[in-house]
Amino acid sequence: MRVTATAEFMLEPILEPNKDQGSSRDAIGLGQAAGKGLNTRHGTILTLEDISVSFDGFKALNDLNLYIGVGELRCIIGPNGAGKTTLMDVITGKTRPSHGKAWFGETLDLAAMSEVQIAQAGIGRKFQKPTVFEALSVFENLELAQKTDKSVWASLRARLSGEQRDRIDEVLQTIRLTASVQRPAGLLSHGQKQFLEIGMLLVQDPQLLLLDEPVAGMTDAETEFTAELFKSLAGKHSLMVVEHDMGFVGAIADHVTVLHQGSVLAEGSLEQVQADERVIEVYLGR
Ligand SMILES: Nc1ncnc2c1ncn2[C@@H]1O[C@H](COP(=O)(O)OP(=O)(O)OP(=O)(O)O)[C@@H](O)[C@H]1O
Ligand SMILES: [Mg+2]
Repeated sequence: MRVTATAEFMLEPILEPNKDQGSSRDAIGLGQAAGKGLNTRHGTILTLEDISVSFDGFKALNDLNLYIGVGELRCIIGPNGAGKTTLMDVITGKTRPSHGKAWFGETLDLAAMSEVQIAQAGIGRKFQKPTVFEALSVFENLELAQKTDKSVWASLRARLSGEQRDRIDEVLQTIRLTASVQRPAGLLSHGQKQFLEIGMLLVQDPQLLLLDEPVAGMTDAETEFTAELFKSLAGKHSLMVVEHDMGFVGAIADHVTVLHQGSVLAEGSLEQVQADERVIEVYLGR
């Protein structure tokens, strides 16, 4: 099997052949700062300061300040157009802020990193629409997701290591798809596809997970399971969840941030922000 010309070009001068223990994080020079060694000395995994994003003069984000703690499960709420998805676009490098600072851990400047580097450094994102490979089995989807995050050398090996297989088995249990492991993903329910996609993130062991409207279109039972799942992931991972479903937010969040017109309007427990007059006015009272 060949890696693409681009990947070879990028990685060849930096990676030593036969050194298959190293991850692609080493290859892009992030080394000790990334992955398990991410420097989070002050307990903050994500720092956003004075972030602004303009689209043709319209400020989708406006001097936004946000701090996410290590292992925290943070919910972001706010009316349509508040800037929630744009916020995730900034964190993942899809959209560049016109000004402001974005740090992952203490030392990684997200503004200086590509989307691929950000993903490899440990930020995983789930979009609203599931993007699983329908013709492939559940297992194959997880296998593929796992390989893309590992070093090129690891991807070149045809077989999964015992450790990789164990991780897939563990994730299958976490997302409750062990019994469907050989099913084509296209035959799963909408909710199961969503869980599979979360599993595809988990096999990459991200430190920070960004989830945009994860329970949209789910049944009540699936929503309940998602709440349980996210609560079990917190601690091991940090999670940022954007959701309009207040029942769901109330079930999972210790801490809620309300966005409005691209800025943080209020922060606190769901009860606190729901009691805030400004929040009632712009959002909950609508
Ligand atoms: N690429 C773009 N070009 C121009 N305007 C954009 C672009 N992306 C987002 N916007 C605008 O920025 C604002 C914030 O959009 P964003 O999608 O971040 O809101 P949101 O809080 O995720 O809303 P929703 O709850 O509806 O998903 C909106 O007014 C939107 O129209
Ligand atoms: Mg959105």
